[in-house]
Amino acid sequence: MSNLDKIKNTVDEQLNGGATFVIFGASGDLARKKTFPALFRLYKNNLLPKSSSILGYARSHLDHDAFLERVVEHIGKDEDKKTIDGFTKLCTYLSGQYDEDESFKKLDQVISKSEDERGMKSGQKNRIFYMALPPSVFLDVAKECHKLALASDEKSVNRVVIEKPFGKDSESCGELLKNLRPLFSENETYRIDHYLGKEMVKNIMPYRFSNTLFSPVWNSTHIDSVQITMKEPFGTEGRGGYFDEYGIVRDVMQNHLLQIMSLIAMERPIGRDAEAIRDEKVKVLRCVKPIELKDVLIGQYVGNGENPGYLDDKTVPKGSLCATYAAMVLWIDNERWDGVPFILKAGKALDKAKVEVRVQYKKVPGSLYGGVSRNETVMRVQPNEVIYNKFNNKTPGLTEHPMVTEMNLTYKERFKNLQIPDAYESLILDVMRGDHSNFVRDDELDAAWRIFTPVLHKIEQDRIKPEPYKYGTRGPEQEARFVQRYGVEQLTEGYTWPKQDVEQ
Ligand code: NDP
Ligand code: BG6
Repeated sequence: MSNLDKIKNTVDEQLNGGATFVIFGASGDLARKKTFPALFRLYKNNLLPKSSSILGYARSHLDHDAFLERVVEHIGKDEDKKTIDGFTKLCTYLSGQYDEDESFKKLDQVISKSEDERGMKSGQKNRIFYMALPPSVFLDVAKECHKLALASDEKSVNRVVIEKPFGKDSESCGELLKNLRPLFSENETYRIDHYLGKEMVKNIMPYRFSNTLFSPVWNSTHIDSVQITMKEPFGTEGRGGYFDEYGIVRDVMQNHLLQIMSLIAMERPIGRDAEAIRDEKVKVLRCVKPIELKDVLIGQYVGNGENPGYLDDKTVPKGSLCATYAAMVLWIDNERWDGVPFILKAGKALDKAKVEVRVQYKKVPGSLYGGVSRNETVMRVQPNEVIYNKFNNKTPGLTEHPMVTEMNLTYKERFKNLQIPDAYESLILDVMRGDHSNFVRDDELDAAWRIFTPVLHKIEQDRIKPEPYKYGTRGPEQEARFVQRYGVEQLTEGYTWPKQDVEQ
């Protein structure tokens, strides 16, 4: 049996061949760009339950055609028309409010009618509620669903998918969790951090735990520093209203980058099931000390003549001190990582698009090869997945001089006909399979906010001004000195990455 068939079997075991996906916020950005295309690809790969229905729900009044236009807007241009038509036949739209009983009674009726029409039996009337919504309405929608729109058939399941951000600090997150808990159990709840669905992020565990070659060096005896970097070459254009309320640390660092860090740093789990993995992630997060202001650099982009600065965005409040760039150093207080800085860096309007983990090893001891470059392991999450290890090698020819080169696993070259699923495709599949491994557990959130909340409050209370940096640059000019303080060395004079896709 192929791996894909095995996956299909688990979906069937879980959902008995039937499901209704309710996409709240169906008129919005995430639904159009990510959720519908992901559902389409699952349909195309025959991974949706045999009898599925996709119901878009939002306040906007959209007729069927206007809705379908949104559904297909971001589905690839070369997709087969017949497949697209088959998919759109599953999709309908319902307009309603997010906090009104009448609307949710209607929602329940529409789903029940469709279940009857499809001849759904007990155990097939499964409902998956996907909240592609601003966090301000999560709770209202969850309450209404709980009250009026759950699958009532005992053998069928209800699942709710919630998007980040999960609160703004320890307190607000605790409040949100407390209020959601009576409505959906932890088992029914899938908190998405879409970075956990990215191919290279999913590869961190196999890289670390299925290779005896690498695991012995994964500790403070051999590793000097770890950098996790996320660069985006665009600003907050038009999204400043949301962004200004959250800032770069809450938007991507406290979740996406910290999730990567916990996978890099956690101990070997006792199994590959969701609880075993998440137990280890929580354990390591609990060992991270709350971040101190001395370990922080924040920045905000300014215009470069061609592109506007953050404060030029009309949706941003005047004089905002919101950070669009941050570098923060985290220290893990345990035996494996004692003294190793984990440097998390993220920024908007930078010089390129890149997400990577860079592990820098200790200096070569002794004088035999004193002064050669340190080894590095780089895992590039995007664009163009690659893992490479930088190492020293004799320069070929009539010289003994070592040079830096790399052992390079570039996915596109190594894996022919490579088709990497989008993170959302892989995560929605996990929801159907009932697999929580790549979703965030409630205690993980608590541990994550404990690390960031004090320093975020300090920055806000003291109105700390972010350092300016020009749109399209590497970030604040202080960055190079900042990372040097933690022992990071820029490698290496004369070293060039052989490919032109992203400069290393
Ligand atoms: P949108 O701003 O596009 O909102 C989605 C829909 O929600 C809108 O179409 C609108 O529908 C409704 N809505 C918007 N504002 C309000 C409001 N104040 N009160 C009630 N309803 C409102 O958001 P996104 O689609 O961008 O994001 C949805 C969620 O996904 C958020 O939690 C976001 O953080 C998360 N996310 C988004 C990503 C993206 O790429 N967009 C990436 C990762 C996470 P209507 O008025 O028709 O009801
Ligand atoms: C989202 C953030 O969670 O992740 C955005 O809200 C960011 O600000 C996005 O741009 C990045 O996701 P990706 O998958 O494009 O790297």
